Amino acid sequence: MGSESGSRPDDMLSGGPFPKTRAMFEKVRKFMRSPGLYTRRIGRLCQKLVSGIWGEQSFFLEGQMDIHPKSLWHEPRFVAEFGGFQIPGEADPRRIEKLVPWDGVRRDLLILLLRSVIVRGVPGALAELGVYQGATARLIHHYEPNRRLYLLDTFSGFGERSVAEESRYTGHPVEARTFSDTSMAKVLAAVEVVNGNVTPVPGFFPDSVTEDLARESFAFVHVDADLYAPIHSGLEFFYPRLNPGGILVVHDYNAWPGARKAVDTFMADKPEVPLPMPDKSGSVVIVKQ
Ligand SMILES: C[S@@+](CC[C@H](N)C(=O)[O-])C[C@H]1O[C@@H](n2cnc3c(N)ncnc32)[C@H](O)[C@@H]1O
Repeated sequence: MGSESGSRPDDMLSGGPFPKTRAMFEKVRKFMRSPGLYTRRIGRLCQKLVSGIWGEQSFFLEGQMDIHPKSLWHEPRFVAEFGGFQIPGEADPRRIEKLVPWDGVRRDLLILLLRSVIVRGVPGALAELGVYQGATARLIHHYEPNRRLYLLDTFSGFGERSVAEESRYTGHPVEARTFSDTSMAKVLAAVEVVNGNVTPVPGFFPDSVTEDLARESFAFVHVDADLYAPIHSGLEFFYPRLNPGGILVVHDYNAWPGARKAVDTFMADKPEVPLPMPDKSGSVVIVKQ
């Protein structure tokens, strides 16, 4: 009908000599009727444009993982079958706290590793060596509040001993008061502890180790102390206490010389291969055999 008259706008849409124009009009009309259908495509287009311009700059745009409900590639059927960030079969979703926006990969990494020890039923407590103001401690505690979480830190940052040790082991200069803007009370408030399962272990590690801690075995340990001596001592302490299948994450393997050296030195004669991860400061993951 349209192709016969050829003059009214309706005819352009329903037939006529310009199929490409007609198809374009049809798309526009569809878009006007239900713009929601195109949100994902528009999002992807914007992401392509922005990452094309900023891709190699100091900040770049990273999509959320496909299992994140806000991912442009989110596939609810996959998540329904396999659980996504959650544990299959659990009625209540576990809480996933935010980290700073540039540490989204690290947030996902820590959650998925914790999830893995829970799903595989690896027994044992959780620990974090290097807590500072409690951001990653909060992430760990709220995702798995059912296990004891030991938080080891001076709660007053590096001291003169840290400076001297780091200089001796790596020659890397560090400032004595780094990370001193915190306290145990501040950390416990920031973590918003939901039960009696969080145990602070204050003091200079490894001198701070208590009898209770020495008797524990672990399923998941996050070592984030930046410097050679505490990281190496952390590996010496936690590695033998990690249950088979348990996971040790050392942060800053691709950022701080002390972290790199401590891991490489300690793991040199161990059967596990430390696996480097692409989060901002390059964590390394060790799964105990
Ligand atoms: C990078 S911060 C931890 C950040 C925290 N994990 C986060 O992401 O929110 C490093 C922490 O390691 C602690 N630390 C370094 N050496 C230590 C030692 N020998 N004993 C206890 N704590 C230590 C510092 O006090 C500091 O709070």
